[in-house]
Amino acid sequence: MEMHFKIFRFDPETDREPYYRDYVVATEPRERILDCLNRIKWEQDGTLGYRMSCAHGVCGSDGMRINGVCGLACQKLVKDYQGSEILLEPLPHFRILKDLVVDMEEFLDRVKAMQPYLLASTPPPERERLQGPEERRKVEDVIRCILCGSCTGACPAMDENPEYVGPAALVWAYRYLFDSRDGQYTERLKAADHPNAVWSCKNYFECTRVCPKGIPVTKSINLMKREINKVFGEKGPSS
Ligand code: SF4
Ligand code: FES
Repeated sequence: MEMHFKIFRFDPETDREPYYRDYVVATEPRERILDCLNRIKWEQDGTLGYRMSCAHGVCGSDGMRINGVCGLACQKLVKDYQGSEILLEPLPHFRILKDLVVDMEEFLDRVKAMQPYLLASTPPPERERLQGPEERRKVEDVIRCILCGSCTGACPAMDENPEYVGPAALVWAYRYLFDSRDGQYTERLKAADHPNAVWSCKNYFECTRVCPKGIPVTKSINLMKREINKVFGEKGPSS
């Protein structure tokens, strides 16, 4: 079967404006969008820029917008787009480096600002810090995050407040806030209690819809809002 692709192109070194280029690919229904991209690059147009690594939904590097919906090209099957042209664009809310390749630096800086690592307040035990099944269950969903950026790309609240840290950063904030082994609970809760953090989320649920790892992103943000209100009092957005 033949699939028709329209792909966003922009090389800031040579192009004044972005444009779209059409490609036709011979493919099979069970193949993935990433397979088609590889075929385009290897057989038709070596200048096409996109990221990929694992090709199995693990590394998070091929996040892009596919027919208007953010997701991983390696997780989308051609058969689900049969009968329509497939439009491929870079993730929104990210600076474009070239074609489908976006700059992840600011996104990762916002995640890093949440201190996405264990900050224990007790000396290291002889062997390891233990966590019971119930405690582990609290963070079970969010540890699946692969930092693909799909949630932040899809979130309409990013348009309303470009300073919003974005849903992915909040997933990482949640991940350590509710980790029973961490010792920075109050500091982490304070970091989440900011107009550019949880209070920028307006419950659009787009992040939850697009997350390739099925993380309940909006629910996690709402649980942090509830925790803030419980601990600091019902005061609405802090300043
Ligand atoms: Fe990607 Fe989901 Fe993590 Fe967002 S929460 S970066 S969509 S894996
Ligand atoms: Fe690694 Fe798609 S290429 S997640």
